[in-house]
Amino acid sequence: MKTRKVILITGASSGIGYDAAQTLARQGHKVYAAARRVEKMEPLKADGVTPMAMDVTDSQSMATGVQAVLEAEGRIDVLINNAGYGYFGAIENVSMDEARRQVEVNLFGLAELTKLVLPHMRRQGSGRIINTSSIAGKMVMPFGGWYHVTKFSVEAFSDALRMEVKPFGIKVSLIEPGGIKTDWGIIAARHLKESSVGTPYEQAALLEADLLHKAYSGNYLSAPAVVTRAILRAVNSPCPRARYRIGRFSRLGVFFHSILPTRLWDAMTSRFMRIKM
Ligand SMILES: NC(=O)c1ccc[n+]([C@@H]2O[C@H](COP(=O)([O-])OP(=O)(O)OC[C@H]3O[C@@H](n4cnc5c(N)ncnc54)[C@H](OP(=O)(O)O)[C@@H]3O)[C@@H](O)[C@H]2O)c1
Repeated sequence: MKTRKVILITGASSGIGYDAAQTLARQGHKVYAAARRVEKMEPLKADGVTPMAMDVTDSQSMATGVQAVLEAEGRIDVLINNAGYGYFGAIENVSMDEARRQVEVNLFGLAELTKLVLPHMRRQGSGRIINTSSIAGKMVMPFGGWYHVTKFSVEAFSDALRMEVKPFGIKVSLIEPGGIKTDWGIIAARHLKESSVGTPYEQAALLEADLLHKAYSGNYLSAPAVVTRAILRAVNSPCPRARYRIGRFSRLGVFFHSILPTRLWDAMTSRFMRIKM
């Protein structure tokens, strides 16, 4: 059994967060699992997980959640900022309200929760912050503009934070999954369809929505357990890495994005998405 840690994880009502919360609890850690749909986390109680209602766009709900963990345990050793979603759509089609909401959940929620736990971790002289980013924080595809904005921001935020808090014994890791079979892609495809129907982007957007839907309802994406293994390393390793890139095709896509001239990348992805350039 590893050293028992007190862990707060967001986005634990489904997909990656649910799997990670369950596995961490089975390893003997004390896990507080946060999300809005608290009823979906009920089964996790069987493994000793404590579910809590939390909306990462609501400051009061985050402050109450952190306070509840501190009152019960006296400490928080690990914060896993995992809540997130993709509102896909052409930049022209996504309303500024939807764009702001996505940034609120994927970036500002993560930032605010981090700021709430940092004073306690600094006092403890130890702590870990693990942020779920994505290969979408490393490479860009059409119709994912605002989602990419949030994940590129999470990358920059985490890199700055890691250097700032190292002197206080706090370690920061990024989890960078490629396609993982969860509800994420189904939700992103639905948003892409909704935002595109009847617009000049419809044809290409519906094709991409269809690709997303097929990929996330098929069997060739990696399972959430693959991401959980990386999260376990970030939680348990004495020297956690700054980034863990995992999932099928994740390394290849980022590699090509980094070596190809922008014009070639644009042409390749547009051709793949059947967008006329
Ligand atoms: N699946 C992939 O291919 C993939 C790849 C790279 C990165 N990621 C990232 O991995 C993370 C987890 O996603 P997933 O794939 O596991 O998708 P998922 O199954 O849809 O889970 C998303 C989680 O985020 C929570 N959430 C959404 N909005 C929230 C809010 N306002 N407040 C609190 N919680 C909220 C949801 O809980 P409630 O709705 O109950 O609140 C849910 O538990 C996300 O950050 C996603 O961007 C996913």
